[in-house]
Amino acid sequence: MKNNLFYDIDLNRVPNHIAIIMDGNGRWAKSKFLPRTAGHKAGVETIRTVLRECKKLNVKHVTLYAFSTENWKRPKLEVDTLMNLLSTYLKNEVATLHKENVKLTAVGDIDSLPSQCVKELNNGIELTKNNTGCNLNLALNYGGRLDIKNALVDIIKDVKVGKINLDEIDENTISNHLSTKCIPDPDLVIRTSGEERLSNFLLWEVAYAEFYFTNVHWPDFDEKELQKAIFTYQNRDRRFGGIK
Ligand code: IPE
Ligand code: IPE
Ligand code: MG
Repeated sequence: MKNNLFYDIDLNRVPNHIAIIMDGNGRWAKSKFLPRTAGHKAGVETIRTVLRECKKLNVKHVTLYAFSTENWKRPKLEVDTLMNLLSTYLKNEVATLHKENVKLTAVGDIDSLPSQCVKELNNGIELTKNNTGCNLNLALNYGGRLDIKNALVDIIKDVKVGKINLDEIDENTISNHLSTKCIPDPDLVIRTSGEERLSNFLLWEVAYAEFYFTNVHWPDFDEKELQKAIFTYQNRDRRFGGIK
């Protein structure tokens, strides 16, 4: 181990923004003959571990896909458990996040979440808004298509009242109307548990992100797995359409 690292990571070239599709809680639980909800509880522990490691490695932005606009299709008991875990996590964790200079943000249709979650989330966002350390961005009731649709509606409204001219609209106009407008595009997207799809995550923003898929279920993902993902990322050749 060099520099106390499992992989030979260049600490000067860590991704600025890592976005994670935390998948596989249910399959992890099933493999242990546990209810799916036990998988979600174990998944919360992984969030703590991964965030700690991101702070250690100086990753500036971490977006976690915690609940999609499609996840409402799940049985009520599972949705309720996820919402309870969210509000409990925030309730227990916000003071610590604040102490560690973490800035909490959220993207998605937040106001349609249960009121307890909205309350805890807004408390956390307000408390940590001036922090300058790592940015923990939670994607909650988030859907990439919904976000793009909302941006379009807002832009059309701005055009209608004469705030923007039609011929001034460019790619930045769209980026600046998405709920992710304050966060740079992700450099690295990680999806755990073997599925290799986006499931409606950050559709616009991932245009030039690197993708890393692992079969490890989210509750088993740890410091070493995160370092492996970053190491793999650092060995990719990002060309952005140009040549090297
Ligand atoms: C990810 O794990 C958590 C959420 C989507 C909220 P899953 O619950 O999707 O786990 P699998 O994919 O069924 O194993
Ligand atoms: C994506 O995972 C959403 C989150 C991780 C929050 P899903 O488990 O919902 O995605 P699909 O249904 O397998 O595509
Ligand atoms: Mg899943």
